[in-house]
Amino acid sequence: MTPTIQGAVKSLGYAAGSLLTVTSLSVEDVAAILAATDRIERMADAERVRLLAGRRIALLFYESSTRTRTSFELAAKSLGAITTLVSDKSSSIEKGESLKDTGLTLRALGAECIILRHANSGAPYLLAKSTGLPVLNAGDGMHEHPSQALLDLRTILVRVPGLNAGRIDEKTLAGVTVVITGDILHSRVARSNAMLLPRLGARVLLCGPKELLPESALGLGAGVEIERDFDKALKQAQVAMMLRIQRERLAGLELDLGDYIARYQLNEERLAACAPGALVMHPGPMIRGLEISGEVADGPNSAIEEQVRHGLSVRTALLVRALSTGGFESVTV
Ligand code: CP
Repeated sequence: MTPTIQGAVKSLGYAAGSLLTVTSLSVEDVAAILAATDRIERMADAERVRLLAGRRIALLFYESSTRTRTSFELAAKSLGAITTLVSDKSSSIEKGESLKDTGLTLRALGAECIILRHANSGAPYLLAKSTGLPVLNAGDGMHEHPSQALLDLRTILVRVPGLNAGRIDEKTLAGVTVVITGDILHSRVARSNAMLLPRLGARVLLCGPKELLPESALGLGAGVEIERDFDKALKQAQVAMMLRIQRERLAGLELDLGDYIARYQLNEERLAACAPGALVMHPGPMIRGLEISGEVADGPNSAIEEQVRHGLSVRTALLVRALSTGGFESVTV
């Protein structure tokens, strides 16, 4: 029997319901999260608001965020929870308080779950270990963004023709090639997707220049390949997932942005020539005119706003899971 996330994470010393990495999710866990997402989404507001009525959730953000922070907060509120936001800009973190002490302070104030975004890879593990609370990784350094991979998966299931969103197993994404293009080196979104989607049968093609896509990216596992020629990659794609060029992390790299745009920008001409039917995704924030043209971002192939909406829904399920000690079975969803 495949162990559940609750069992696996607990055995490592982290609270049940934590989500630190997609690698701790079995395919059954993924199916349970998506099924709960569907059920919660269908609920009447008055029913949904009772699921976590009065529970206390802290959002602890050391890096900027629009989508992840807002969707977790709105998801928590739609479930009846009480939320508080602590950001590095306006808290005692500015005075040098450690992550551990900040977490212990939030716990002393009654927080039952912490959603953490942090610039350091692995920070959510430290917080989960030191507080004993369920921690949801909202993006840690260049490591992972597990809730993003789950919302991306849901978007693909809904939008790519011929997939059976109601049956999640090792073959659900068989025949689907997902091309992830851009700053793979610095992307936690790419890592989480490249580790999750192949386990459901997808083929993941990573695409980008050597500066942003070192050969070591192949260490991500089975089902992941590198294709440096964007046009060749796109011709195989059912899904084109574009990544932001992270200017804030480019220091020291010799990257010619003009050359990058010529070779790797997803624009109307390239999409029409190579992959006219492909689903276009971007986790955001996007830089229009750099990795993607505005026309493609706003065009009929784009699922970018839909991804944001799926983020809100998937995060309701992750919060219910985090705060239900017996898993989804212990709550009526
Ligand atoms: N996709 C994503 O993580 O966006 P934010 O940085 O706005 O949360």
